[in-house]
Amino acid sequence: MATVLPAADPESIRIAAEIIRDGGLVAFPTETVYGLGADALNPEAVAKIFEAKQRPWFDPLIVHIANRAALDSLVPFVSLGDHWLMDAFWPGPLTVVLPKRESVPDIVTAGLPTVAIRMPAHPVAQALIREAGVPIAAPSANPFGYVSPTCAQHVLDVLGDRVDLILDGGPCQIGVESTIVSIVGTWPELLRPGSVTLAEIREVIGPLVRVAVSLTVAAPGQLSRHYATGTPVTLLAAQGARPVVHGDERVGLVAMLAPSYVDDRFWAVEVLSPSGDLREAARNLFAALRRLDAMGLDRLYAEPCDERGLGLAIMDRLRRCAASNQLKASELSRR
Ligand code: TXA
Ligand code: MG
Repeated sequence: MATVLPAADPESIRIAAEIIRDGGLVAFPTETVYGLGADALNPEAVAKIFEAKQRPWFDPLIVHIANRAALDSLVPFVSLGDHWLMDAFWPGPLTVVLPKRESVPDIVTAGLPTVAIRMPAHPVAQALIREAGVPIAAPSANPFGYVSPTCAQHVLDVLGDRVDLILDGGPCQIGVESTIVSIVGTWPELLRPGSVTLAEIREVIGPLVRVAVSLTVAAPGQLSRHYATGTPVTLLAAQGARPVVHGDERVGLVAMLAPSYVDDRFWAVEVLSPSGDLREAARNLFAALRRLDAMGLDRLYAEPCDERGLGLAIMDRLRRCAASNQLKASELSRR
């Protein structure tokens, strides 16, 4: 089992940095979710990330840096629009996709000519990258396709025997993965919604940012195993809408707000934010899904939220979760 060390202790950071430099894997907190880190410039170390997560080789990783000077070794140039984005949102939960230098191993970018880069704001992530002295490639620290971890225990539960060290820095403040933006193509594109909102990005680089098509009409291959819980999830049509529950079916509910009445159809209810605060809802989302998933219920229902601001990111994760279950069911019925 992995060693878990308190991230607040400088000695833990020193040990973690040494593991990274030696080509090992360290799970560490960021302000979004916990990452599974390895030396981004060491292809063998990066390969361990893919093995630990059982992640397909075609899914590229995000490279984490602690300061802008680190960009020089990763990308040949930074466009004006990217500079504006970095000025506005770094350090923080924004990932930008940039043309890559040859020195970035192909395994990191899945052979793409571009690399995704983020400068996390979390002091532990910052300290780890600085102490390691190398950029750190890190996907979310969960098996491929499962919900992302928002505390050290989540990582221990699912990857405990596959990482060398887990730095425990407490629960993540944001709770959903970083916003990803690419302005390398013809149009600036939002590739993944997160807590930096579409409106905020448009304020910085102009109104022409498009929401990537794959967000709305996701490719089945990509969807089929993303954010899947073991328990099937169905998205309800509206907040307060209630499903017909059959016989002895045991169902749980992910509610956005505190339900206005007691509903004994549900074995368990997780309220994401009693006051309807989207930041609080995002922070609680993955932990709530994990808790319900651990109860072994027959089905989970989830209420939708308004797809504005952070609501776009929350709905993106809930849709993928629901769609992955549908695909799993149809895959099973075809067998
Ligand atoms: O908040 C986060 O971003 C967390 C923390 C740990 O930093 N990391 C994270 O990584 O969510 P991951 O691996 O779960 O998501 C990375 C995604 C890929 O699945 C892909 O969609 C996108 O980033 N990506 C990476 N490189 C890319 C590239 N060159 N072009 C387009 N998309 C890329
Ligand atoms: Mg992930």
